[in-house]
Amino acid sequence: MKKVKIGVIGAGSISSMHLDAYASHPEVELVAICDMNRTRAEEQAAKYGIPNVYSQASELLANSEVDAVSICTWNNTHAEFSIAALEAGKHVLCEKPLCQTVEQALEVEAAVKRSGRVFQVGFVRRYGETTRILRKFIDAGDLGDIYYAKASYLRRLGNPGGWFADKERSGGGPLIDIGVHVIDLCWYLMGRPKVRSVLGSTYYKLGNRSNVKHLSFYQAADYDASKNDVEDMANALIRFENGATLMVDVSFTLHAIKNDTTISIYGTKGGAQVEPELQIATEKHDVMLNLLPQADRLSFDFASGFRSEIAHFVSCCLGRAETLSPVEDGVEMMKILCGIYESAAAGKEIRFDDNL
Ligand SMILES: NC(=O)c1ccc[n+]([C@@H]2O[C@H](COP(=O)([O-])OP(=O)(O)OC[C@H]3O[C@@H](n4cnc5c(N)ncnc54)[C@H](O)[C@@H]3O)[C@@H](O)[C@H]2O)c1
Repeated sequence: MKKVKIGVIGAGSISSMHLDAYASHPEVELVAICDMNRTRAEEQAAKYGIPNVYSQASELLANSEVDAVSICTWNNTHAEFSIAALEAGKHVLCEKPLCQTVEQALEVEAAVKRSGRVFQVGFVRRYGETTRILRKFIDAGDLGDIYYAKASYLRRLGNPGGWFADKERSGGGPLIDIGVHVIDLCWYLMGRPKVRSVLGSTYYKLGNRSNVKHLSFYQAADYDASKNDVEDMANALIRFENGATLMVDVSFTLHAIKNDTTISIYGTKGGAQVEPELQIATEKHDVMLNLLPQADRLSFDFASGFRSEIAHFVSCCLGRAETLSPVEDGVEMMKILCGIYESAAAGKEIRFDDNL
């Protein structure tokens, strides 16, 4: 059996999800890992039995044994490492967000086209089981035309600190970090209509709330609360060329009673609540129906989502499938995210012309 030889760049928190999924895949051999924190790379190498350990991405990319890489480093490295990996002839699975700016996104897209290699953006929620269930209903036309979607991803205490809170390395706060997941998921389920305009607001009101006691929260591998120059809350109205709209709000910190992840889409024949639990709303014989799919899981599960995303990437590397999250979608997402930041800074709606 031909095996895909994988290298993982970045050995922090999310690398474990990638490594678990690769390690359990019968057609994969983990051959290399790299982190500028060499000890961290060595620890993951020991845990997963990876023979080659590096502290620089360029060293890993120079290893001709490596067929494909996962890029699991800070956002400010995604474009540079993606382009270098493609130019070294590797297939690439790049964590979300694709990068930090539209210009970088277009450079990565050009490199993908030049290289002819597989490139998958880590929009892991597209690969979740509930997303796949819902897509069957959408693709069969059961929801009709989807004209509205609404997504909230609100953390009341969830600024991960470290690089996540440093705009230079992250590109922004909750909008680019967690907003990207829910905006992309809605957009994907809506059939990826072309974006016409965005109107966004960002707020820097509460800071990271690192003073709060008695409540734990997710922290970056190198947690540091001393620097925080990202927004703590953002909201936006995104309008598409087909007239559909998407409303979104996201936060790292907020005076909310509880965390809230709610995603819904609405069409002419039916609607669906995607999170916190998949349900489909429709009408039959003049009766409104709420359909509850019978499935093991009705909300997004990280471990199985990553296994599914990585299994799909491996199939693409072996030439058996096309990615569900191509670079073009990463570019469109960067247009939306950067447009929202631009709109918030300018205090006005940003419209996209046809050239972008
Ligand atoms: N898909 C998801 O649900 C999900 C969840 C969390 C994070 N992420 C993404 O994964 C990426 C990593 O996030 P994380 O939570 O693992 O962060 P992390 O800080 O825990 O780990 C990142 C690692 O990258 C290393 N690194 C940074 N720059 C490097 C460089 N130039 N060369 C070598 N190593 C370098 C750091 O030393 C660190 O160990 C981010 O892009 C983030 O947006 C995705």
